[in-house]
Amino acid sequence: MRAAPDSHSGLEIRPVTEDEFPAFVAAEHVAFSEELKPERLEAIRAIAEIDRTLAAFDRGRIVGTAGAGSWELTVPGPAIVPAATITAVAVLPTHRRQGVLTALMARQLDDVVDRGEAVTVLTASESIIYGRFGYGLATWAMGFAIDRPHAGLARPAEAGGRVLMLDGDEAPKRIPDLYDDLRRRQPGALSRPPGWWADYFRDPEDEREGASPRFYALHESDAGEADGFVSYRVKKNWTDDGVAAGDTQVYELYGSSPAVRAALWQFCLGVDLTATLSCWNAPIDEPLRWMLADPRRFRVTAVSDWLWVRLIDVPAALSGRGYAAPGRLVLDVADSFKPHNTGRYELDAGPDGAECRRTDAEPDLAMSVADLGALYLGGVRCTTLARAGRIEERRPGALAAGDALFTTADAPWCSTEF
Ligand SMILES: CC(C)(COP(=O)(O)OP(=O)(O)OC[C@H]1O[C@@H](n2cnc3c(N)ncnc32)[C@H](O)[C@@H]1OP(=O)(O)O)[C@@H](O)C(=O)NCCC(=O)NCCS
Repeated sequence: MRAAPDSHSGLEIRPVTEDEFPAFVAAEHVAFSEELKPERLEAIRAIAEIDRTLAAFDRGRIVGTAGAGSWELTVPGPAIVPAATITAVAVLPTHRRQGVLTALMARQLDDVVDRGEAVTVLTASESIIYGRFGYGLATWAMGFAIDRPHAGLARPAEAGGRVLMLDGDEAPKRIPDLYDDLRRRQPGALSRPPGWWADYFRDPEDEREGASPRFYALHESDAGEADGFVSYRVKKNWTDDGVAAGDTQVYELYGSSPAVRAALWQFCLGVDLTATLSCWNAPIDEPLRWMLADPRRFRVTAVSDWLWVRLIDVPAALSGRGYAAPGRLVLDVADSFKPHNTGRYELDAGPDGAECRRTDAEPDLAMSVADLGALYLGGVRCTTLARAGRIEERRPGALAAGDALFTTADAPWCSTEF
């Protein structure tokens, strides 16, 4: 791998000004081969933090872009850590494979260190790109489909309360606050700034792929408190002989308890004039399969990586999450892209919290910072990464101890596009 330059010869790397922002977004869209409409530019501006943009300029023209947001990530515990959400990563076709991205990534991580954030996260358009920069794949998105004629539940959901439809005026008033409560309990979930929600409710027609606008349904407890929601579209379709063959497409479903989630799935399965229920991004341990009377009818249609996590301040990141069991481990962490991060860290976790500090003690496990990022939210076991040749056990029994410390009961999950 090429050594990481802090600057790129001949190029200037810096945040853009307000006036340069349209050119920044335009360059990103060219690199992604996408059309940029004025309303899209406006929506992106409402989310973007201008001082966290980075553009690579070649003789005054923007040829590479990267951006970051100051958001929050829920980690096991559950606990909240500040996280930089990395976005708009793109290099023009004229400047590819010349180290522009590498220079942007290096500078961006320096800025994150200066801001005191311990963790950066991103979703990857191509999964080959980010391991070299220290990112590990930390959450999974599972797509599934169920044929509604075979979708009977083994037993009816028993959450009590009621499900009500929200119209376009009510949804923005009720869903963001509810999400903000529920995301704090879900490791892997992200905070969502107001601009993000504005774009979500804008729901432009050209992003619906022929399906309906989003519908929003809220679950309320018997006491009248909102405790879950689902958003979905319906893609209408009819066979030549007039049979409804559409698809109820769930965008996201959140509930404060398994019973509320079950009630919302039951609601979704009841949407008429469709033949299937599908979802593009459910937790990998989604229990709906186990709720069906005929579980084989739950067809997994895709499993893909979603959130990639990068630890840039290992002690702050590891002491910021909770651990199911007490334990002590010394980790030997290699970070070839940001060598200041390389070193041995002692993690001491107990019921009252965790401490992590640099140490000279003999290591129990050795791994790259990318693999530590993969472990961070509990989405993969140390043992699995060791079997893949990615983690080395330096003390017998340390892998099992690592599994007990890092693994979580529920899979981490993120449903936020950013
Ligand atoms: C992906 C992209 C940003 C890479 O930019 P770049 O400036 O060409 O990247 P670099 O020259 O710094 O490459 C760094 C390394 O990654 C590798 N790499 C970069 N993009 C790659 C790709 N798409 N496939 C395989 N390898 C890739 C390079 O070969 C290089 O490897 P090396 O260090 O072993 O030599 C650019 O190709 C692009 O804009 N693609 C379209 C948009 C996109 O996919 N963005 C990523 C969004 S998540």
